[in-house]
Amino acid sequence: MQPLDRLRPGTVGRAGGRVLELGVGTGLNLPHYDADVHLHGVEPDPHMLKRAQQRAARLGRQVELHQVGAEALPFPDAHFDVVVATFVFCTIPDAQAAAAEALRVLRPGGRLLFAEHVRADAALFASVQRLVDPLWQRLSGGCSLVRDPVALLAEAGAVDLQVRPREGAWSVLPVITGSARRS
Ligand SMILES: C[S@@+](CC[C@H](N)C(=O)[O-])C[C@H]1O[C@@H](n2cnc3c(N)ncnc32)[C@H](O)[C@@H]1O
Repeated sequence: MQPLDRLRPGTVGRAGGRVLELGVGTGLNLPHYDADVHLHGVEPDPHMLKRAQQRAARLGRQVELHQVGAEALPFPDAHFDVVVATFVFCTIPDAQAAAAEALRVLRPGGRLLFAEHVRADAALFASVQRLVDPLWQRLSGGCSLVRDPVALLAEAGAVDLQVRPREGAWSVLPVITGSARRS
């Protein structure tokens, strides 16, 4: 299991009701949802989407997948109980728009559950991140090491932001998990 994969069950397993996952990728979170979750996922990359569809079929997991970016979600306001985002705010080109959209489609009081790698606090690691970020982005499909998803969500109007102590603080890949609410 990849180190980041350890965080999936604790993040996704808390989702219930009508759930939207942003940037589902190849569907690595799919095994961790409760069976009675009514799941939608968005993913703009057709190759990733196909792999997610194949994984869902193998798992016998019902999921409605949409080939679209998270910056303009094709859902009405307040449509979901929960929005899930794992390792995706690092990659979405307009992450601020995606955060605003995630909150728009959440019902009032609904929760956004996230696991994300973030900008380092420690000056040394923050410098290394800034240095390698351009190359990292080119090699990893646009993923940036230096984003701050908590600030993004706060700026988009999320409330009750709860962030667990970061893991890997002394590395170039510190990771946070947490939740936020729509007011
Ligand atoms: C690092 S992968 C993470 C995939 C998945 N969330 C996971 O936890 O395994 C980042 C994903 O973001 C997707 N992505 C890129 N641009 C996006 C956008 N505008 N909206 C939503 N997802 C996007 C990529 O195609 C990729 O699947």
